[in-house]
Formats: sequence, C-alpha cells, structure tokens
Amino acid sequence: MPAFTASAPGKIILFGEHAVVYGRPAIAVPVVQVRARAVVSPEPRGEPGSVHIQAPAIALDARLSDLSPDHPIAAAVTAVFNRLGVSRPPACNLRITSTIPVAAGLGSGAAVSVAIIRALSAFLGQPLADEEVSKLAFEIEKLHHGTPSGIDNTVITYAMPVYFMRGQPIESLHVSQPFSLVIGDSGIASPTALAVGDVRRLWREHTRHYETLFDAVGEISRRARRAIEHGETEALGPLMNANHDLLREIGVSSAELDRLVVAALEAGALGAKLSGGGRGGNMIALAAADLAPGIARSLEAAGAVRTIISRVE
Ligand code: PMV
Repeated sequence: MPAFTASAPGKIILFGEHAVVYGRPAIAVPVVQVRARAVVSPEPRGEPGSVHIQAPAIALDARLSDLSPDHPIAAAVTAVFNRLGVSRPPACNLRITSTIPVAAGLGSGAAVSVAIIRALSAFLGQPLADEEVSKLAFEIEKLHHGTPSGIDNTVITYAMPVYFMRGQPIESLHVSQPFSLVIGDSGIASPTALAVGDVRRLWREHTRHYETLFDAVGEISRRARRAIEHGETEALGPLMNANHDLLREIGVSSAELDRLVVAALEAGALGAKLSGGGRGGNMIALAAADLAPGIARSLEAAGAVRTIISRVE
C-alpha cells in the first residue's frame, strides 16, 4: 500500500468577513504561497485500526485513540472513517506539516482539515470529491470557531477565488485582470471564535445598527465582484478602504491593524483593510505589482511580523 499525500493552500478574505456569518456575500481567494500538507503512509507492523499522528509544528505525536474526539485533527480523521464506513482502517501514520501561520486569518485550520480528508480518503481507496471534502471540513471548522460561515473550507477546498454566500452553492469568480496583494501579519494571535462571539453579542444588543452595517458590507462585496470580473482593479482600492471603515465600526479592528492599514496607504497601496476575524491577525493591501515589495517593507517597519506578496489570478 503506497503513501498518499495531499495539500491545500491558505486563504485570505478580500471582502465581507463577519457580515458573511449573517448571510451577506463575501469574497475570498487562495494564498498559494503557504500550504498545509498531509501524508498518510501504511504502518505494516501496526495493529489494524491504529493511527499514529504527527504534527511537529504543534508538538503533536500521539495515537488517534489518545486524542480527545474534539481535537480538530482527531475529528478530521474520525469524520473520514465515519463518512467511508471504515471501522478498522489498516494501521497508518498521518504526518501533518504546514507553512500557514496559525490563528492569523489565513485558514490554517481548514487547510489542515482539507489535506487530511483528501490524503486519508485516498489512502483508504475512496478519494472524496471536492463537495464532500468541503462538507467534512466545514464540520471540523465548527470545532475551531463555533458558527463558521463555511467560506474558509470552500475557498481552500476549491483553491480558486470564490464569491460566497452562506448556504448557497459556491460561485467561482473570474479574475479578468490579475492583481497583487500584500498581506501583513500584526503578529497578534486572535482566535476567530472570540471576535465572532463578540460580534454576535453586539448584534443581539444593537440588531438594527448591525444589520445596517452588514448590508453596507454586502453591497461592497457585490460591487467588488463586478470590479474583479470586469478587470476594474483600481475600483477595488476604495472598496477595501470602505470595508475597513465598516469593520472598525463593527468593532473588530485594533490599533495595530489600523496602523498597518495607514502604513500601507502611505506607502502607495491602492486600498487596505483588515482581513479575517480581526482584532489581530492579518491585514491586506492592494498594490500595483511594482510597489508591492516597498509596501511590504513599510508594513514591516510599522510592526508587521511577516508579509506575503500574493498574486490573485
Ligand atoms: O479569521 P478567518 O480568516 O478564519 O476568517 C473568519 C471570517 C469570519 O467571517 C469572521 C467568520 C466566518 O466564519 O466567516
């Protein structure tokens, strides 16, 4: 029995985070510069049913049976066994590696789940189709952040730009004119579940106000979609700035993220915003290709711990 390897990219949300949890559209794109990888190999001397899991980056070296069923990696493995009706899989090793920063809005959890689901289902001789992979990864996302919209597992499974609305079939997005993004990491780990939970509390207390904010974000996503499909890249900058202002009003920005956004704009970015859950994690800046390295340097000077230049195409 050979080893099976699968990998999945990171992702970034271009427009519509948080509002997407409340049914408004959002746009997300894969970030192929970073990836999660899973390798499943047979363990010929192992007991049937035993799964040895190694994820060096999080110092995990354990048997499946020793992990809590809620552990996201254990949950992904078990979800595949249940879905395929496998009760005693051949003994195997699962090794997970990833270059996607954790808790930074780049979708590391969903990418790890997708890679595991693909590699393990292939190892078991029943490779799952994308729709099934995304569905199972969504179940695992619920363990990571409570009430996920499903955007992370979708964009990461299909590895293409998506226009996403909760509960609706996915719509791919044709990028007529490729463009460059600079992603700046504030270095502040910020679990998405906390930000999403805070927004929910605020939405309950001030429902009308939050619905208005979410409507405005949804309208920005719709306009951004048209701009991307028509190759009107210059129109995206102001839409990003407007989306960032709304995210500040929603209450998910922070002094550090605001500082990085200003630094990007001062360095010539066409627009900038926080991306993902907010509070910490990443921001993104839209950059003319020749200015991207300079914007990345300015972000680092303003406190970004890491920058990634990504091309959306
Ligand atoms: O923090 P991230 O990049 O995983 O994105 C979360 C996006 C939210 O809209 C805040 C939550 C969600 O599930 O869509």
